[in-house]
Amino acid sequence: MNNAMKKLLRLLPVLCLLTCLGAGCTDQSSADEQPKESEVPAETPAETEEPEVRYTIDNIRDYVVGVDEPVELADGTTRPMINFDNAATTPPLKPVMDAIDEEMKMYGSIGRGFSAKSNHSTDFFNETRQRVMRFVGADPEINTCFYVNSTTDGLNKLASALIGSKDDLVLATRMEHHADDLPWRERCNVIYAEVDEQGRIIYEDIERLLTENEGKVKYVCVTAASNVTGYITDVHRIAKMAHAHGAMIIVDGAQIVAHRQFSMKGETPEEDIDFFVFSAHKMYSPYGGGAVIGPWDVLDRHMPQFYGGGTIKIVTDYDQVYKYSPESYEAGSPNYAGVVGMSKAMDILEEVGFDAIAEHEKKLNKRLIDGLKKFDNIIIYGDSENIDDRVGVVSFNFTDINSYIIAAKLADVGGAATRRGAFCAHPYVWRLMGISDEEAASFENCIDMKTPGMIRVSFGIYNTEEEVDRFLEILGKLIDESREATMLQADADPRY
Ligand code: ALA
Repeated sequence: MNNAMKKLLRLLPVLCLLTCLGAGCTDQSSADEQPKESEVPAETPAETEEPEVRYTIDNIRDYVVGVDEPVELADGTTRPMINFDNAATTPPLKPVMDAIDEEMKMYGSIGRGFSAKSNHSTDFFNETRQRVMRFVGADPEINTCFYVNSTTDGLNKLASALIGSKDDLVLATRMEHHADDLPWRERCNVIYAEVDEQGRIIYEDIERLLTENEGKVKYVCVTAASNVTGYITDVHRIAKMAHAHGAMIIVDGAQIVAHRQFSMKGETPEEDIDFFVFSAHKMYSPYGGGAVIGPWDVLDRHMPQFYGGGTIKIVTDYDQVYKYSPESYEAGSPNYAGVVGMSKAMDILEEVGFDAIAEHEKKLNKRLIDGLKKFDNIIIYGDSENIDDRVGVVSFNFTDINSYIIAAKLADVGGAATRRGAFCAHPYVWRLMGISDEEAASFENCIDMKTPGMIRVSFGIYNTEEEVDRFLEILGKLIDESREATMLQADADPRY
């Protein structure tokens, strides 16, 4: 309900009373008459103005949609779920939903109409590009921003535009999730920098590969934060290396935007990020949405393989002339709700503050890792001692319990949502689990108990330490029965 509506509802008793008094409450027809506007006493601001909410890390949970919604468990009871699956997607924020509802009143076609609503929506849509660029510290003099449906969509579009030949060379890392790997490997040659035993990117390996392929690497593609271990990459250090060898850097921002302040600007121009891609659904705004930010001049020299209305200056019988970026990257009617939600989500995240978010996540990470360490036969992936370079993501396993079995029990019996599997980052997960490439090749799918996988907890800004304690308690209660179920299940991969 918007403020105007709330105001009106609060005024209703006053209006009724005035109507009643004015009419002497004798005559129904006159009682129905509305008082003149001048007869309604002016409200005193103190009584009527909604105090403006200031969103903080301490109150944000009150503004998350569905956080207290009961879900049904296997025994038929219901309770609110512990949602520790935020790296996959985040629940929407109420102010984001309110902003979308409000904006829909003035929704019209974007860049295609002549109505007041169409003009309003088109202006909002275009002005938000600047807002997005501010959020990621992009220089609007050299960059533009085009909207996409998700990180996967953005990286595919970018790859389809930038890669001109099968012989092009891209350098990625073994930490990438599939969205920042497959769009490149399907189009050209990709070489990969390795990760170390703890799962961190080996920066020296990037330098080695760039040197060995001097001048040949066109793009270095790297994630800003891992969706498996939560490691934050020093992308500015990599930018400097890439630029020194004549390559541009493309950063997959899917797992950083809701967790840390990100700036495309480095300390020196050589450290600047060239392209940044992210999704809005991982930052508390549903309905899809996301953006790619990159330099005009480069984007204008290319076109994605994605054509249609909105991208075109003129089409004749046998010819077509395209617009420049960002429009040339946005074929078809855009996802306005996604853009409105994304813009509001950025406001809220900045208001809550990334310092507070980082501090909160570190507390949750530490509490969870310390709790997990107390279990026998536990494996916690990545560095569980120095955890300062990790966003709120912790993946783990038990050496003798099938991860599918325990993750299912966590959800069905315990009401706790995690993600289980290889998290669309197979090569990275196999490395961390010590599974060879040959063995991995034999897994037909990565979704059931016959294939190895990990259990992942990923935090949102609204999760609490109390939820971590409850999760550990639930996990503790499920271990024995999960171990038994693993032994009884002949098909289950007994390792994890
Ligand atoms: N969205 C995928 C995840 O859950 C990549 O991490």
